[in-house]
Amino acid sequence: MSIISKDIQKAIALLSNDELVAIPTETVYGLAGNIFSEKAIQRIFKTKKRPFFNPLIVHVSSVDAFEEIVSEVPEKARLLAHTFWPGSMTLVLKKNKNIPDIITAGKDTVAVRVPNHPVTLELLQKLPFPLAAPSANPFNHISPTKAEHVERYFKNDIKMVLDGGACKNGIESTIIGFENDEPIIYRLGALALEDIEAVVGAVAIKNKKATNPDAPGMLDKHYSPKTQTVLTATILAEIENHPNKKIGILAFKSPFKSDKISAEIILSTTSNLQEAASKLYDALHQLDHLDLDVIIAEKLPETGLGKSMNDRLQRASFTSS
Ligand code: TXA
Ligand code: MG
Repeated sequence: MSIISKDIQKAIALLSNDELVAIPTETVYGLAGNIFSEKAIQRIFKTKKRPFFNPLIVHVSSVDAFEEIVSEVPEKARLLAHTFWPGSMTLVLKKNKNIPDIITAGKDTVAVRVPNHPVTLELLQKLPFPLAAPSANPFNHISPTKAEHVERYFKNDIKMVLDGGACKNGIESTIIGFENDEPIIYRLGALALEDIEAVVGAVAIKNKKATNPDAPGMLDKHYSPKTQTVLTATILAEIENHPNKKIGILAFKSPFKSDKISAEIILSTTSNLQEAASKLYDALHQLDHLDLDVIIAEKLPETGLGKSMNDRLQRASFTSS
């Protein structure tokens, strides 16, 4: 029997009973549990096989509810919160005393966001506690953007995926931390850098593990299909590097003509980066299930969401050699 359901009351009952429910957001599906239930939080780490040093994002229903999670809010953080929430931005700020250490991996900061999805906003409004929710994928796998992706990963581990359709933004939220009250990007994501800078001015990016111990989840290899993945600006030349292989192409706007290609997905025939972002992970899920030898992905333009997508594809294609 499918674990996918639209029954919000059932989700409330499960979450109130230390169980996990996968929830829809506008970015990706999250694997949610009550932030105050140690049992539920332990289950999140165990189900995802996520290392305990990697802290979770707290999801709340409003900017007011956010004020109860954090203890200090710099002026620019408040401005960003009021401008972009509900939306695809996560703020990392000094935590309130009542936030359990297991949520924050012992750090004195906590990550919070107000997601922009009607189903999950209704759920959060009806629950008497906030939800901790990492992306609903096993550690290091591709994030889910459809209820079916979550079901495929976790049908034997959780009782319910709350169905909210396909995620319209399709990549994870942009994470912003603060140093001396100034915003710093810890993770590029579904809210474009340019939109953030239009509100608070120029923002530094520190999204590499090597240069930012405050961004513990920013691994070099991440978000990866099982199939070997290559990111390139020159698809036809790259195809020649893989003779006699079963090749899948992930193209931005137009198809590549070559009889060496076994499968091809176009992200946006109208060159729309928002559309491309919404389809990116679903395309990777699809290509990863075709028994290909290699997925060759086309580098996107380095503007707006293109920059965030290139970041994900770089991590998907990272090899340590
Ligand atoms: O769009 C999203 O953000 C999705 C949806 C479900 O909301 N969630 C998500 O969660 O992507 P997750 O756990 O897959 O990624 C959260 C990232 C991790 O890299 C984690 O290290 C970082 O946020 N993070 C959490 N708390 C932090 C903190 N206190 N300081 C620095 N980074 C933190
Ligand atoms: Mg994740």
